[in-house]
Amino acid sequence: MDRHSTIVILTGAGISAESGLATFRGPGGLWEGHRVEDVCTPQALARDPALVHRFYDDRRAALAGVVPNAAHKALARLDADWPGELLIVTQNVDDLHERAGATRLLHMHGELQSALCAACGARHSWTGTLPPSSACPACGKAALRPDIVFFGEIPYRMEQIERVLAQAALFVSIGTSGGVYPAAGFVQTARAYGAQTLELNLEPSAGSRLFHETRLGAASALVPAWVDEVLGLVGD
Ligand code: APR
Repeated sequence: MDRHSTIVILTGAGISAESGLATFRGPGGLWEGHRVEDVCTPQALARDPALVHRFYDDRRAALAGVVPNAAHKALARLDADWPGELLIVTQNVDDLHERAGATRLLHMHGELQSALCAACGARHSWTGTLPPSSACPACGKAALRPDIVFFGEIPYRMEQIERVLAQAALFVSIGTSGGVYPAAGFVQTARAYGAQTLELNLEPSAGSRLFHETRLGAASALVPAWVDEVLGLVGD
């Protein structure tokens, strides 16, 4: 790999854990006290819109109480200083990568601070509460929903992700359990195109055996050390 190589980084809830945001598959398999199927499916939204909207209102509000950690900051430094192509593909819906300064970033599962109109498809920056049947500023219909990719829905920007995986020299997965597709399959795609693959995680993920290398530990320790290693390749 050289300074012109493409690096693709996949992040999951584990990179935000040390900032105080709950991961999905913590103890008891509950997610902030809810079963995922009760708050993160189109059926749940249709069945109980108030519960689903309130769940995401609470998570959106929680963002005000957390800050990026050393792992987010290290990735932002890499983003700023890496001369080749780089893309951070996050499964997370928090805004901690942005607040750390990352710009070459996409949210494949949506964003808490965005509202999506189910009628016209418009997206709107949204930081407050989003009551069910809120009117869309673009089309006026009472059809705004959280801009979150629910289970059973298609993740965002998949063409862009596939393109960049095909040209990656290095694919790094950080803080994800490797249990949810299509993200869990990115390592295989990258490897098939010849990329080196590295996993940085607190514990072995479901896909650890698919990586050339796995380093176990907290993201706030592993990610800054890895970024120093990679930027050491850039030279002056
Ligand atoms: N440092 C590094 N890794 C950590 C840390 C930490 N401090 N804390 C937890 N982890 C690891 C856990 O070991 C676990 O493997 O982060 C991973 C978190 O896994 P999940 O809770 O399953 O979260 P994630 O992999 O992001 O879930 C993927 O599933 O529910 C859907 O759409 C949702 O985007 C989410 C997707």
